[in-house]
Amino acid sequence: MTKPLPIIIDTDPGQDDAVAILLALASPEFEVLGITAVAGNVPLALTEINARKICELAGRPEIKVFAGAVRPLLRPLVTAEYVHGQTGLDGPVWSDPKMPLQKQHAVDFIVETLMTHEAGTITLCVLGPMTNIALALIREPRIASRIKRIVAMGGGFFEGGNTTPAAEFNIYVDPHAARAVFDADTPMTLVPLDCTHQALSTAARIERFRSIKNKPGPAIAAMLSFSERFDEQKYGTDGGPLHDPCVMAWLLKPELFQSREVNVEIECESELTMGMTVVDWWRVTARKPNATVCRSINAQGFFDLLIERISRLP
Ligand code: BDR
Ligand code: CA
Repeated sequence: MTKPLPIIIDTDPGQDDAVAILLALASPEFEVLGITAVAGNVPLALTEINARKICELAGRPEIKVFAGAVRPLLRPLVTAEYVHGQTGLDGPVWSDPKMPLQKQHAVDFIVETLMTHEAGTITLCVLGPMTNIALALIREPRIASRIKRIVAMGGGFFEGGNTTPAAEFNIYVDPHAARAVFDADTPMTLVPLDCTHQALSTAARIERFRSIKNKPGPAIAAMLSFSERFDEQKYGTDGGPLHDPCVMAWLLKPELFQSREVNVEIECESELTMGMTVVDWWRVTARKPNATVCRSINAQGFFDLLIERISRLP
């Protein structure tokens, strides 16, 4: 067997973040070095607790969870309780996590891990606003050339935005951080709404999770039944988009995605289009490609992968 890929998961859980973390923990292809929480879907005080609840649900209380930035670099924090509920993980009944929160700050953990491991080996899976990653790059710019790849859920181009007409939530919450990350000259994959809006957790797919004979399967069914009620109404679809696990799926099965190497710039000046990912899909500028941008996903293959992996958890 080839060596597992060492990853750090930076996240703001969130029900879809929870499924992404569970997918990573269920996949032997990954070695999860740590989970770094950031403010996003709900404030940091909740996202770090949620990250620990998810590790315990997966039967992995030894995973290291770190708390990071309490707010975006420049703008006030915008949260999304209207989607995720007051806790961020509404749906199942949770008990308070028993595993500890690490004392080290998430940003210090990211920097230290990248500086002490062999360069070009560690992948960052970014599932929320990019504040922690930008702060790590500012604190120790040498990490930029040591990261193997950043794979991030964020943005939208053909699909537009989900938080404003132009901007997707993760990028909208901290556009300045996103700009710093895209400017870092690190290999980058972006999984935008163009993909995730095709990955719908339909009623039939939720039933597949519910019938898995372990704790995480039915918990996922309860989480998604809660979080999708808002999206179903908004988009008029059967099921809501299951955004964040697409990041792990791209690493596990890139053949499920169609993508292109293109330039992406982040709008940080105009209030109207703040946080827009300006993707040069047709290569109409001379700007250098700085990301692999995914345009579509094989949704059936994605859910088959999820069900197969989640079934492996205790
Ligand atoms: C992104 O925003 C959050 O609400 C989700 O967890 C996902 O990361 C989708 O726009
Ligand atoms: Ca998220």
